[in-house]
This record gives sequence, C-alpha cells and structure tokens, in this order.
Amino acid sequence: MTPLRVGILGCGSFAHRHAQILAALPEQAELVAFCDRTEAKAQAYAGQYTGGRAAVFTDHVRMLDQARLDLLVVVVPPYGHTDEVEQAAARGVHLLVEKPIALTSEQGWRMVEAAEQAGIKTQVGFMYRFGAAVEQLKALIDSGEAGRPGLISARYFCNALHADWWRMREKSGGQLVEQAIHLFDLLRFLFGEAAAVYSRQENLFHTDVPGYTAEDTSATVVSFRNGALGVVYATNGAIPGKWINDYRVVTRNLTAEFANANRAVFTFTAEPDREPLAIDSDRDFRLAQMQDLLDTIRTGGETRTPLREGAKTLDLVLAAARSNQLRAEVAL
Ligand SMILES: NC(=O)c1ccc[n+]([C@@H]2O[C@H](COP(=O)([O-])OP(=O)(O)OC[C@H]3O[C@@H](n4cnc5c(N)ncnc54)[C@H](O)[C@@H]3O)[C@@H](O)[C@H]2O)c1
Repeated sequence: MTPLRVGILGCGSFAHRHAQILAALPEQAELVAFCDRTEAKAQAYAGQYTGGRAAVFTDHVRMLDQARLDLLVVVVPPYGHTDEVEQAAARGVHLLVEKPIALTSEQGWRMVEAAEQAGIKTQVGFMYRFGAAVEQLKALIDSGEAGRPGLISARYFCNALHADWWRMREKSGGQLVEQAIHLFDLLRFLFGEAAAVYSRQENLFHTDVPGYTAEDTSATVVSFRNGALGVVYATNGAIPGKWINDYRVVTRNLTAEFANANRAVFTFTAEPDREPLAIDSDRDFRLAQMQDLLDTIRTGGETRTPLREGAKTLDLVLAAARSNQLRAEVAL
C-alpha cells in the first residue's frame, strides 16, 4: 500500500495529537508538509516528526499547489479558517477538519458544498463518536433495543485560562461553541436532530481577566424533533487541572451512565433481571477517528462525521449562542 501524502495546517498545540497518530501509521500515511502562519512552528513539526524531511509552508494555497497532498489535516483555531477547505476540495485533497469547522453557518455550509461537489472524503474532529461506550449505546438506539429516547444530559467542566484566542468570544465563539460543541455533537449523534434550543451563558469567574469576553458558565436545554429533551451544562470555573465531560442517557428501556465516551454502565430498566452492562475500554478514539477516515479514502463510503455533520452541529451551537443573546428559545 502506498502511504497517503498528508499535510498539516496549523502547527499549534493540538496538531501534535494528529501528527503522533499519523507518524505511528507509516504504512498508511506519510507526513510530507506542515503549514503555519508562524514558519518556526511548521519547521519545529517537520523536525520533530520527519527529521526535517517534510516541506514547510506559511501559506496553505502554496502548500496545496506544491506538496501533492492526498489528505490535509486542518487544526487552525476557529477564527483561522479561510478558504482551506474550498482550496483542498478543488484539488481533490481529502480533509480532516477540527471542530468547530467555522464561526458562521454560511462558512460552514460553503465548506460542505465544496467538499460534496468535489466528492472528497471528510471527517470532523468529534472523536467522542468513536468512544467504545458511545458506539454501543448508538447501536442499541439504532436497532430499537434501547426504546424511545427520553433524556440526555452532558457536562463539560474545566478550569484553565487556555490560549489568548480561546478567551475572546469573537475568535473562539466562546466555551460552548469551541469546546462544549463536542457534547452537542454527541446529543445529535445519539438522539437525532434538534427542533429548538434555549441557552444562557455568563462570565461569572473571569471578569477580572483582561480580554476574557467568552462565557465561562452556560446552561442549555435542547428539544429534539423526536420529542426527547437534552441538557448541556459547561463551566470553565470548576476544578483546576481536571477536564471532565460525562453524560447520562435515559431511554424507554435503559439508563446509561457514562464516566466518559469509553466507560459506561447500562442498566436495562425494562428487564429488571438482566445484568447491567459495564463497558470499560481503553480505546484511543482519536486514532479510531483517523483510521475511519484513512479506510474511507481507500475503500469508499462515508466517514462517521463528514463535514455536513460538522455544519449541522455548528448550526446547533450557533443557535444556542443566539438564544442567549435574544433571551429566547431559538428554533432550528
Ligand atoms: N478535538 C479535540 O479534542 C481538540 C482539542 C484541542 C483543540 N482542538 C481544536 O484544534 C484547533 C487548534 O487548537 P490549538 O489548541 O492547537 O490552537 P493553537 O493556537 O495552539 O494552534 C493553532 C495554530 O494555527 C496557526 N494558524 C492559525 N490560523 C492559521 C492560518 N489561517 N494558516 C496557517 N496557520 C494558522 C497558529 O499560528 C497556531 O500555530 C481548534 O479549532 C481547537 O478547537 C480540538
């Protein structure tokens, strides 16, 4: 198998995770190009992951013109998206795009249109869809065994100052749009499309931090088209050094309590004599996400989370942000 030629756009802190995954799959992928607005960052990646063999760029169009890529991994902050998806699609280059894929619905759907017209394979970085426990619940819901979806709650708790851009609402979209979006995507993955959303978002703990214009506390209620209800609550004022996201799901036939995407206990409430199912996996769900994309590029079909899914989840969190501004429920 000839390895796919891969480039990374945005060589900041998180791109290391994708670079490590790809560097460990030499038969499937070869890191051949790195691009960052700051040349030294791209150079550092090329040195660390390819001993300096990979090409280095500061302009993504030049990289796409010169590096003969099969796959581009986009790891720029929300404000950093320009036309990289359209440029890659025009050259038939497949894409992994980190969440949120954009800061406006218009830009998100432009990306979808370009990718779908070009027929490239795309994956958005909602890796919790690949959690072992999430997968099992999804299968039970899809088969009908779980019965009617009723309630899903999910929380995101952290306490860190993050990057400068993260703290600025106009650059990140805020904690809900940039970070808790993972949970909103999980709600959609498990319970289907939302009908309406009501959200409140406040900055309660960081009013004295200059430039911190994002919210640090939010509470959101989602109603789904199938009648089910969801709650997402997030804060950046919880336990320093801990990043907690967990979920609870109630359907007609079971209650699922998740410690994280890989670990959960399912209690089968419609079958009182049935043993609860405990799922406890060490799966690397970011690796599973990348493998799904690499397999799809080679063998066809759809990835689990194509750009269209990224645009729909973006629309949901943007509706939540609008709800907060309007102090009113927003229909989708
Ligand atoms: N899936 C996950 O769990 C997860 C975790 C962390 C971050 N992320 C996402 O990854 C993205 C990047 O986050 P990060 O923490 O690495 O940010 P970062 O600030 O550490 O790095 C971003 C890099 O992108 C570069 N950049 C920005 N715009 C650019 C452009 N147009 N062209 C070239 N380079 C550009 C910056 O110079 C910087 O080096 C964000 O969208 C974030 O939400 C996802």
